[in-house]
Amino acid sequence: MPLFIVENDITKMRCDAIVNAANNSLLGGGGVDGAIHAAAGPGLRAECRTLGGCATGEAKLTGGYSLPAKRVVHTVGPVWRGGAYGEEALLRSCYRSSLRLAEDAGCETVAFPLISAGAYGYPKREAFNIAVDEISAFLRGSEMTVYIVVYRREDALFDARETASLDAYIEEQREPEQLSIFEDLELEPGRERRFSRAVKREKPARRAESGAPAGTLGMMSAPAVEARVEEMHDLSGDLADRLRRLDESFSQSLLRLIDEKDMTDVECYKRANVDRKHFSKIRGDAAYRPSKQTAVAFAIALRLDRAETDALLLKAGFALSRSNKFDIIVAFFISRGEYDINRVNEALFAYDQPLLGC
Ligand code: APR
Repeated sequence: MPLFIVENDITKMRCDAIVNAANNSLLGGGGVDGAIHAAAGPGLRAECRTLGGCATGEAKLTGGYSLPAKRVVHTVGPVWRGGAYGEEALLRSCYRSSLRLAEDAGCETVAFPLISAGAYGYPKREAFNIAVDEISAFLRGSEMTVYIVVYRREDALFDARETASLDAYIEEQREPEQLSIFEDLELEPGRERRFSRAVKREKPARRAESGAPAGTLGMMSAPAVEARVEEMHDLSGDLADRLRRLDESFSQSLLRLIDEKDMTDVECYKRANVDRKHFSKIRGDAAYRPSKQTAVAFAIALRLDRAETDALLLKAGFALSRSNKFDIIVAFFISRGEYDINRVNEALFAYDQPLLGC
């Protein structure tokens, strides 16, 4: 069910299927097409020869041969000619036909490049928005996991105007002289983007009385949590009362909030970009302890305001701090009442932060 944006070479993706940005002949070319054929070996071209080409907007399936991916879905995007020749409809059709074909073949994980955003000249921002739009629409009815693989971070262009307001917000929020003591996300050598956990403690961190670093509350005592929340917000009675149920765990609070917001479980975990298996684990374990990203993902899915978000995060021992970009970006969207998790993830990706969902 989840949709993730990753920076990688698509030929390295270990998925059930990767999608090739092919041409009508299906006999290879440059860009993604050239890279996939080179990595797959001659068997791929031999099978493509038997397919009789592919119309623009349609998709055909082959084996993966020497690729780590089991299969390749070949689709042909439109050549950009200014936008008045049905290019958008054809590009949307590429994503829909590729996803349908992969699902019919039983694929559970699929990786897409940005179709038509290279040699075919489709404006990258629009190509990216169409990819996110079509894939998230498909995932509302599917449990597949889909990756949008960008070869260069700038391909996932976050809207320039948004970047300007987000940069301003980050500067305004960031506490002076406060160094992030959170994991520093270091890119491991090569393009594959993994996050190595190198917690830098260049400065002694502000520590809650529990001894946990700022931004996490560790195992604070119940009265201390309550005092912290009162201190953080002038809480309305009903929220304060709810928090007084401090014996309520994170997952109990989550399930209660789903009911109070009149949502179904499916609606909530899909809006949180969380897969069904993970949600079942949460539902089945009252003592479940989420990662900060997962806790925040559910706050976004439930459309919680800032005080409600802080209350839910506290249940998992976290708080949004002003000492790292991830927290500030999340606070930016919540402060604006923007709860589209794909938009939040686009911004987190653009700023090289971990994404929401799992
Ligand atoms: N992994 C992931 N993304 C990649 C890779 C890679 N190895 N190589 C290129 N890309 C990105 C490009 O940066 C671009 O954003 O994929 C996107 C699509 O670029 P193209 O491969 O040029 O595909 P497209 O624009 O659809 O043009 C297709 O080009 O290669 C020929 O035979 C192909 O004629 C067809 C045309």
